[in-house]
Amino acid sequence: MATDCVELDPQDEVAARFYSKIDRSKAVQRTGEGLWLVLGHPEAVQLLRNRTVSSVTRKPALGIWDQVSSRFFMFKDTQQHLKLRRMVSDCFTPARLNELKAIVHQTTSDHLDQLSELTSVEGRQVDIMKTVAYPVTADAICRLLGVSPVEGTFLGQWAVSLSKHTSDEQFNRSAEQILAFFQDQLSAYRNISNGSGLLPIMAERALAAGIDDDELLATCILLVVAGFETSANFFGNMLLSLLWRRERFEHLVADEALIGPAVEELLRLHTPAHVVMRRTTEPTVVGDTVIPADVQVAVLLGLCNRDPRIFDDPDAYRPDRSSNPHLSFSQGSHYCVGASLARVELEAMLRAVLTHLPMLSLHTEQPLRWSGRFLGRGLDQLQVLAS
Ligand code: HEM
Repeated sequence: MATDCVELDPQDEVAARFYSKIDRSKAVQRTGEGLWLVLGHPEAVQLLRNRTVSSVTRKPALGIWDQVSSRFFMFKDTQQHLKLRRMVSDCFTPARLNELKAIVHQTTSDHLDQLSELTSVEGRQVDIMKTVAYPVTADAICRLLGVSPVEGTFLGQWAVSLSKHTSDEQFNRSAEQILAFFQDQLSAYRNISNGSGLLPIMAERALAAGIDDDELLATCILLVVAGFETSANFFGNMLLSLLWRRERFEHLVADEALIGPAVEELLRLHTPAHVVMRRTTEPTVVGDTVIPADVQVAVLLGLCNRDPRIFDDPDAYRPDRSSNPHLSFSQGSHYCVGASLARVELEAMLRAVLTHLPMLSLHTEQPLRWSGRFLGRGLDQLQVLAS
């Protein structure tokens, strides 16, 4: 297979610039600014599984968003982390996941039908982010939480505004709106003691586990901000990669059994969350290095995913790898709680596109526009030709 490490990353100049400064010969290293980097796969696994290493890397809470996000279990350790995480993870039962899978398949298929109609009326060119990636992933989060799709449109807008942070004013307004929204949802549920989705189940569990309303509301918001745009952005990046080398797309049209492995391989090659942050609480052995106590450590998941000690021909796209232990959903106690839902969404969207639009191609006259952020990179638009 052709080596294609240059295929997507250079378009994301921010990431390319960041990686070009790193000496890849050292799996664990200290930067001139005192930040520690881990870029080897076994070393990252060792660090992320080490229970003495902390995820509390945030500064003291000042504004409303700092207060809400300081309660996210993503940034907590040990018992506090476990108590809040369990409130969510216990809800991802196989039965609920199957239910969600059926819903995601149905909504994806509906969106693709609408897209086929739209292209027959308005022409062949469409933005796949607007017509598929955002609506399907927003809908999945709404169904998960038991929120109506109309309200979900607002949730999606607030989540995007919070991650893009275009202005402080807009950012603070979105933080207030998303918090007020879930406060209303919770009061409505308590007044009528009725409702579907995760919120009522989480509210019950919160009561039993001594979780207060602030923590419960923050957890709902975490699910939206961690779960919505990440999947939408990655779907765009994944489809771009397949259409950029169109023979890959054709390969999947011809052999649908490869869809699952192809999603995993693209998650590895185009790692959506490049970095996760940790802080050591004591001297910590990682590989043959001892990282001192009380320092910040950046685990570069994107580089771990290309570690030649673990992945043969690491820069190549090879959906037929016999094993693919990529770290795109992290590792250890903070392993992505929504990974199974993300896989369901990504596979459903890809399958539907391959089935409904097998002749799809990139609209190459339109320059690609990436959001300027390094973390959570995504395309503002992905213009394609439907036939
Ligand atoms: C392509 C899609 C996704 C990717 C690449 C992704 C990636 C990640 C990563 C790397 C982490 C670990 C952070 C760390 O180690 O500090 C994480 C955690 C998390 N993710 Fe995802 N995620 C995705 C989709 C989702 C979805 C759909 C949801 C919710 C429904 C979700 C909810 C969460 C939550 C709540 C955490 C915190 C887990 C914890 O700290 O215990 N993610 N995700």
